[in-house]
Amino acid sequence: MIDLPREMNALERILLDRIRTQGPLTIADYMTECLLHPTLGYYTTRDPIGAAGDFITAPEISQMFGEMIGLCLAQAWLDQGAPARFALAELGPGRGTLMADILRVTRKVPGFHEAAQVHLVEASPRMRDRQARTLAGLTPGDRITWHDSADALPQMPLYLVANEFFDALPIRQFFRTAEGFSEMVVSTMMNQLVIGLVPAPGHPVLEARLADTRENDIVEICGASPVIARQIGQRIADHGGVAVIDDYGDWRSVGDTLQAMGRQKYASPFENPGEVDLTAHVDFEALLADIPCAHSRLTTQGVFLERLGITSRAQALAGRLTGAALDDHIAAHRRLTHPWEMGTLFKVVALFPEGAPPPPGLDA
Ligand SMILES: C[S@@+](CC[C@H](N)C(=O)[O-])C[C@H]1O[C@@H](n2cnc3c(N)ncnc32)[C@H](O)[C@@H]1O
Repeated sequence: MIDLPREMNALERILLDRIRTQGPLTIADYMTECLLHPTLGYYTTRDPIGAAGDFITAPEISQMFGEMIGLCLAQAWLDQGAPARFALAELGPGRGTLMADILRVTRKVPGFHEAAQVHLVEASPRMRDRQARTLAGLTPGDRITWHDSADALPQMPLYLVANEFFDALPIRQFFRTAEGFSEMVVSTMMNQLVIGLVPAPGHPVLEARLADTRENDIVEICGASPVIARQIGQRIADHGGVAVIDDYGDWRSVGDTLQAMGRQKYASPFENPGEVDLTAHVDFEALLADIPCAHSRLTTQGVFLERLGITSRAQALAGRLTGAALDDHIAAHRRLTHPWEMGTLFKVVALFPEGAPPPPGLDA
């Protein structure tokens, strides 16, 4: 069978022109264009999340995920003296499902909704619309405030969740050669996007990584993650609160973790830009390196959810189900917690004030 040439999409044409006139793009710039180009970006043109979309996230698998996170945040709020006003915030809320489940489960916590103001950090206008529809009638005072960046969150106690947000932030990639590191960039060859190498700028992280890498290794740096973690951490240090961060990755990133997903399948990151999701594993060590508050130990999602009681909740819900609905429910519990599914790949860490207890499910 002969492979027909792939048809180029509009964003690919724009990127090829830009590279021809201005030179190669860093992987970070390429990711930003692919995900958030104002008219052709992945998150600006579609709602890709859910069983019928390109990929599924934990809150879309089962309401139990949001219920566990909601109770965790509410207990942390109680443990810190139940501040009379606080921001209940989410970074990258997707379809709004996680926040909806948090709000439903915390309705029974006395005073929580009266004190909460919902703040969402979302870059895509299209996803904001989706969130507004999901959360209609659920938020305290029927109010939601959207922000373009975490830096715009209010100065008040902050109870925040970020699920699969940091993996969507752009990374730069560096390839170790005999001479040190070169930066991997997106270039062009024969009218196609290809990977090239250019001399890497001096960077303290790269100098440090000379010690634990060898020739041909790849090191990834996400410039935005530590900045956002610091902005959140500063609010928690100044006003109290917690941030629960759940994402795939590990304590230290090694190797090429840039991946593309389309229609629940892996794809090439450099074909059909803007039509597939691009993510990279989170390097939690780098994310937490400069925060001005305490953080918990990195814990697997499976252990975190088990400690919060997801199995008891699953059993209670199972009692009301039969047939295919029961089978789906059992599969969802397994998918969220089992080590061979999301249980180990996904990790959870919390930011909290020095001297305060870590939120339930996590150790200091
Ligand atoms: C993978 S989705 C996660 C969705 C949701 N948290 C969930 O668990 O279903 C990433 C979300 O982050 C948003 N996003 C991506 N990059 C962003 C950025 N730089 N700033 C703010 N939001 C961003 C996307 O529009 C989307 O809502």
